[in-house]
Amino acid sequence: MPVITEIEDLKRIYKRRVPKMFYDYCESGSWTEQTFRENSSDFDQLYLRQRVAIDMTGRSTATQMIGQDVAMPVALAPVGMTGMQNADGEIKAAKAAEKFGVPYCLSTMSICSIEDVAENTSKPFWMQVYTLKDDDYMKRLFDRAKDAKCSAAVITVDLQMLGQRHKDLKNGLSAPPKLTPKSIANMATKVPWGLEMLQTKRRFFGNIVGHAKGVTDPSSLTTWTAQSFDQALDWDRIREFRKMWDGPLIIKGIIDPRDALEACNVGADAIVVSNHGGRQLDGALSSIRALAPIMDAVGDKIEVHLDSGVRSGQDVLKAVAMGAKGCWIGRAYIYGLGAMGEAGVTRALEVIHKELDVSMALCGRTDVNTVDRDILMIPKGFSGDWED
Ligand code: GLV
Repeated sequence: MPVITEIEDLKRIYKRRVPKMFYDYCESGSWTEQTFRENSSDFDQLYLRQRVAIDMTGRSTATQMIGQDVAMPVALAPVGMTGMQNADGEIKAAKAAEKFGVPYCLSTMSICSIEDVAENTSKPFWMQVYTLKDDDYMKRLFDRAKDAKCSAAVITVDLQMLGQRHKDLKNGLSAPPKLTPKSIANMATKVPWGLEMLQTKRRFFGNIVGHAKGVTDPSSLTTWTAQSFDQALDWDRIREFRKMWDGPLIIKGIIDPRDALEACNVGADAIVVSNHGGRQLDGALSSIRALAPIMDAVGDKIEVHLDSGVRSGQDVLKAVAMGAKGCWIGRAYIYGLGAMGEAGVTRALEVIHKELDVSMALCGRTDVNTVDRDILMIPKGFSGDWED
């Protein structure tokens, strides 16, 4: 087994182990993938201020997200089809998260169902909810999340329709994969993945099959989103969802300060500054660039988190320094899951934790709750100072 010291190591193993269709699904942005790339590369433009001769003993990365204790300011983001990256992937990722002490958020587009994950874990997880036209489905989804004792609902507001990801269309992405000469030839090179997949029954969209009505091809995410997602979604409709769920609520997918202010008015506990990992509107601003203007607009009205582009503990540190209460990671843990199952997710969390801890110390801070903009050198272009 190679020595794993960084997230890229996990990504290399992941790429070898998992069918191309699912690797591409994870590793894609929409259209030209400009936003997908800039989500990560914009982090590199923020410089950290090194400080010296400051006592760096007794460090802590523990904090809270939406009032819940976390071992570090990181949550596992909802990722569609996680159970196709590795058999029973959602359960494995949730287990790794609970052992590490960070929140796990299950996607509506998961392979393992809400009930599957609840039965196989012992700590409450967060439930991500897509906004569908079907009111019955929505009410049942919130009820199922309540029955599963989910400790937050996360409404994703940036996917009324799917941004086009060229590779998914070209690969004929589906769960389970359709057997074509091309997919069979590729899967023939992924034997350990296939053997594990044959041993589980969880190979379908667990929250759709048997739950959603009128979907002609329940194995296709493209068909499901096109047929069922609510293109008419507006803030009034989101207020209706708020009434269906009386627990902690997070609104995910905000990239503009005006939308952040709208989200403050629906009674949410937190927002996630996110462009969906660059998978929706290509050409949109990276999340880290969008963060400061949003922080300035909402002040202390609402807790602000960030996802999209976070691949290291230094990225987490930078986002926290800019004011985010925590970061959500998606691809960074999926690489680990695809590479090594639950142990790979744990390894991804350990890598990120170590990077965060050491970088924080070298910036002269010992408690993540004291990290602020003073540890950063921020170039122009990160404060919303655009031409009108
Ligand atoms: C689903 O959330 C996706 O981005 O594919």
